[in-house]
Amino acid sequence: MKLSLPKGTKDILPNQIHLWQKAERVFAEVCAQYGFSEIRIPTFEHTDIFERGVGNATDVVRKEMYTFEDKGGRSITLRPEGTAGVVRSFIENGMGSMPSPVKLFYNITAFRYEKMQKGRYREFHQFGVEAFGSSGPEIDAEIISLLCTFFERVGIAQTRLCINSIGCPSCRPIYHQALVEYFSDKVAAMCDDCKARYEINPQRMIDCKEQRCKPFVTEAPRQIEYLCQDCRTHFSGLQASLSSLDITYEVDPSIVRGLDYYSRTVFEFVSDHVGTQGTICGGGRYDRLVETMGGPSVPGIGFAMGVERFLMEAESQGVVLSEREPVKLCLVHMSDASYQKVFQLAHRLRRAGISCEVDLMGRSFRAQMKYANKLGIPYMIVIGDDEVASGKAKIKRMKDGFEMDIEISDLPEQAALFMNESKKEI
Ligand code: HAM
Repeated sequence: MKLSLPKGTKDILPNQIHLWQKAERVFAEVCAQYGFSEIRIPTFEHTDIFERGVGNATDVVRKEMYTFEDKGGRSITLRPEGTAGVVRSFIENGMGSMPSPVKLFYNITAFRYEKMQKGRYREFHQFGVEAFGSSGPEIDAEIISLLCTFFERVGIAQTRLCINSIGCPSCRPIYHQALVEYFSDKVAAMCDDCKARYEINPQRMIDCKEQRCKPFVTEAPRQIEYLCQDCRTHFSGLQASLSSLDITYEVDPSIVRGLDYYSRTVFEFVSDHVGTQGTICGGGRYDRLVETMGGPSVPGIGFAMGVERFLMEAESQGVVLSEREPVKLCLVHMSDASYQKVFQLAHRLRRAGISCEVDLMGRSFRAQMKYANKLGIPYMIVIGDDEVASGKAKIKRMKDGFEMDIEISDLPEQAALFMNESKKEI
């Protein structure tokens, strides 16, 4: 049988890993600057964490979860997103008693059994944050500004930021009723999913992507027209905060998000470069989720960014996230005796923090030179019997042949000095 990846998964190969590492490093740095601490949660949870957290009516729970019974007969699910697991951890570890707000960030893989498309995978990666304990609009603006800082720091232009408010339990029932009435004479002509959504949660009908449902959905009432006074005040507070930070946004009443836990603020960063749905990042407020999952009454807000989609966006904007750092130095040997020396020297250099390569393939002198060239290693030291006997060698800059004598006994220090000085000259 021919070996192949499962559909919807991808290898991240050594020639791409530097992009990921740069994005991961910058995201962690920016989160730390905003006072967020990293949390690492398990890849799988008890299935009911997602059923209760993400919501039984969502496509994610109804159709996309990787759920299986483990050998102990428990129903287990590979996480389709991070929020439910972080909330479970927040409750289980009593984080509600920590000083508020509790600000957490994560870098995870997530799993959804979705139809493969550009920018849509079955295993994908998310950078996310969750902040617990603050109910004002300022924290909503803070996490949006964190994202803007991240985009700026990696050098990509901010993509379109769309915000909306989807109300709270006091104004939602009125909206719910408006939707029930609106769809009552249309649901028969809509897709099977919408028929089910009509019974469970008609608000889910608003994000239906089916062609036959679209005309009905486009004309449907919008939550923003039904907001209560508190939700209105919160939403205008968010807009004022974003404006005071010079963050450009647009209000898009069609954003509802695909997960059930949201209330009030929802937002997305969208772009034309990342596939049909175009969302690089989505998030929002979930003021009832902690309580619904059995914890204290603590409001929350967060977002998750699809790392694959973020990297697609960076590429389409022509942003090179970082140049790969090749190994700095190649130690080339000329005989069996000098090979032993070279092997020891490489160990010393690496312990001193200098990256280097030695031959591990029994290559001839010429073949070692060719190999170093192919890898683009910028500096080289050749060691033969004469160098071993005299204790002296030459370090050479490959680009232009510029070289300097060094004492082998003092190799790490002298090599580091030469490489630093010659970098300045370039
Ligand atoms: P989400 O909108 O389901 O929200 O996913 C967030 C991001 O993950 C999307 O904008 C997209 O970039 C990426 N993503 C989702 N599904 C896929 C896929 N199949 N393939 C590639 N990328 C994908 C959440 O997950 C929420 N937990 C966000 C959140 C955190 N809300 C509050 N806190």
